[in-house]
Amino acid sequence: MKILVTGGAGYIGSIVTEQLIAAGEEVVVFDNLSQGHRAAVHPKATFVQGDLQDRPAIDALLETHKPDAVMHFASKTLVGESMQEPFLYLGENVICGLNLLQSMVEHGVKRFILSSTANLFDDPERMPIDENERIVPGSPYGESKHILERFLHWMDRIYGMRYAALRYFNACGASEERGEDHHPELHLIPIVLQVAQGKREKVTIFGDDYPTPDGTCVRDYIHVLDLAQAHILALRALDKGSRRYNLGNGQGFSVKQVIETAREVTGHPIPAEVGPRRPGDPDVLVASSETIRRELGWQPRYTDLKDIIASAWKWHLAHPDGYGE
Ligand code: UFG
Repeated sequence: MKILVTGGAGYIGSIVTEQLIAAGEEVVVFDNLSQGHRAAVHPKATFVQGDLQDRPAIDALLETHKPDAVMHFASKTLVGESMQEPFLYLGENVICGLNLLQSMVEHGVKRFILSSTANLFDDPERMPIDENERIVPGSPYGESKHILERFLHWMDRIYGMRYAALRYFNACGASEERGEDHHPELHLIPIVLQVAQGKREKVTIFGDDYPTPDGTCVRDYIHVLDLAQAHILALRALDKGSRRYNLGNGQGFSVKQVIETAREVTGHPIPAEVGPRRPGDPDVLVASSETIRRELGWQPRYTDLKDIIASAWKWHLAHPDGYGE
């Protein structure tokens, strides 16, 4: 199959591209390099630099490359930023997705995989969170993904487009060649590893008065290679019908557990101090991924936090300046 990967120069998109190519698929990456890195794009992928706000560029892309399926990673992804600049998310994220979907309909491309988010579940009634949980977006970022999921419902119903909406919990880890290199870095695991690398003095724990066993927030850290596997399985199942899956490894780890495990993995003391809560952080977010396990036989390989952090650490050691751009 030929797959168009938007955002294929970004963290998750570049690793899914790598895994698609390893699985024998042909990949065209479309990325504006606003957050991604040219060096992260797999050398066997065709790279087209462009912006999803540019509708004629998308039309030209689909006309030239005629993909069989689209995986849409390109997105603004920061929950906090979306609370400061809602129009960037409710505007740009939604308009880019809409441009892509409209162009796909006009060019007869009928398979779509959306990078969605656990930020759909701000106020869950049950833990772990399965696909029947009510959707309460936690921010304009989560709302932008919810709107795209709703668009997809109608694309399926009206045009027969088959889609999978994959709601990632906390993506982390690295492959041998590709890893996480954000500027600025705001995610817990890479921040903790930057302390171990001597790039930061300490990590601040955002609150230790949550109703959790050690008082710090609990998250479901899912390895990016397990995410990639889920994309490949979802792609192969698309023709049997559209679907939505929550993707996590099903276990929660607290901020303190992450820091402690990173100390073990890196051998660095990783100084930590407790600061105030970060506004908008839910206390616990853990996924139930029973549906994708049952329907597609997805089996996460990285369930041990130590292995997850070790894979990220290995990449950071081999790439001390990330992609160096
Ligand atoms: N944290 C700290 N100190 C830091 C950074 C993070 O204590 O310096 C804490 C956060 O408060 C949170 C946990 O570490 O409790 C994880 O924080 P991240 O920023 O790494 O990830 P989030 O859980 O906030 O966000 C992730 C994805 C989002 C997605 C969200 C879904 O990055 O894209 O999960 O809930 F929307």
